[in-house]
Amino acid sequence: MSGILDSFGRSIDYLRISVTDRCNLRCIYCMPPGGVPLIPQSEILSYEEIRAVVRAAAGVGINRIRLTGGEPLVRAELPRLIKMLSETEGIEELSLTTNGTFLKRSAPELRQAGLTRVNVSLDTLKADKFRDITRLGELGDVLEGIEAARDAGLNPVKTNVVIMRGMNDEEILDFARMTLTEEWHVRFIELMPFSGGVEFVPSAELREHVGLLGRLEPCPDGTGITGNGPASYYRLAGARGTIGFISPRTEPSFCSRCNRIRLSPDGRLRPCLLSEDEIDLKTPLRNSAPPAELERLILKAVASKQEHHDLEGGDAAPLRARGRRGAMNRKMSQIGG
Ligand code: 5AD
Ligand code: SF4
Repeated sequence: MSGILDSFGRSIDYLRISVTDRCNLRCIYCMPPGGVPLIPQSEILSYEEIRAVVRAAAGVGINRIRLTGGEPLVRAELPRLIKMLSETEGIEELSLTTNGTFLKRSAPELRQAGLTRVNVSLDTLKADKFRDITRLGELGDVLEGIEAARDAGLNPVKTNVVIMRGMNDEEILDFARMTLTEEWHVRFIELMPFSGGVEFVPSAELREHVGLLGRLEPCPDGTGITGNGPASYYRLAGARGTIGFISPRTEPSFCSRCNRIRLSPDGRLRPCLLSEDEIDLKTPLRNSAPPAELERLILKAVASKQEHHDLEGGDAAPLRARGRRGAMNRKMSQIGG
């Protein structure tokens, strides 16, 4: 069985699990310099608890899992979890989103544990800008991490790029050019308004800009690149890699292609990244609820998915400041993007 139909006819087959809210970086659009209040360790799901959720999810039709954070590689013994999940019946794909800092040393081990693919966040190709954006990171570590992931067979490695006006928007063509000569799969993600002070750039503008390098040809499905997610993929003529655009702010059909639910580090299921609704799984897990109860709660989360987020148009004001339904009660680092 694959996928759970929600109330709007979407098939939900994908679970994103944030394994920790901790991170070794402090990206300007994600966290303040001093970090955010952390979830107490005792509230964070154990690997056995995560496995119980994944077993139940697989039982009702979820077949793909992505691990996120915070930074998932700061959690101790992550390969142990990967092994547990990759051995779970019904799970066909197990991927990871990481900032790449620790990937160089852990890529082979992750692959061996059963990880299929990895996405790496990388917003600039300039070392000094990288320090400005991440506050604590070193560009070289991430570039080496990407190579290590590729060498370990975690293919295709996709690179997530958040373009911010006046910050890294002069690098749009540099990222696009990387796909001409290298097998880079660059995905431009529209900045979500989780914190103020930085302005997003609409995908249409990015696409036009990239078009200066040549015609963007849509990538057919089934190439192993397009995935089933909300990105639209293109290739510059003759390029080795691809360019994807993820447009939660400006593409009206974005939500109609949604295929996922999310699990927070403290065991709350989120039907939508941009809604405050949550379903607590930690309490039933710790009260030894039977698998059928977890399955029921997962189905309930899918049934409660709303048709559309209420981020209208391109308003760059932070949701929190707007004080409306949909305001964020959690930071991105607690939900995992
Ligand atoms: N808007 C868009 N993307 C974000 N990410 C983190 N915060 C934001 C934001 N406010 C991205 C990271 C990473 C992915 C998990 O989410 O860059 O690639
Ligand atoms: Fe860490 Fe990712 Fe947030 Fe950057 S965006 S601070 S890498 S969780």
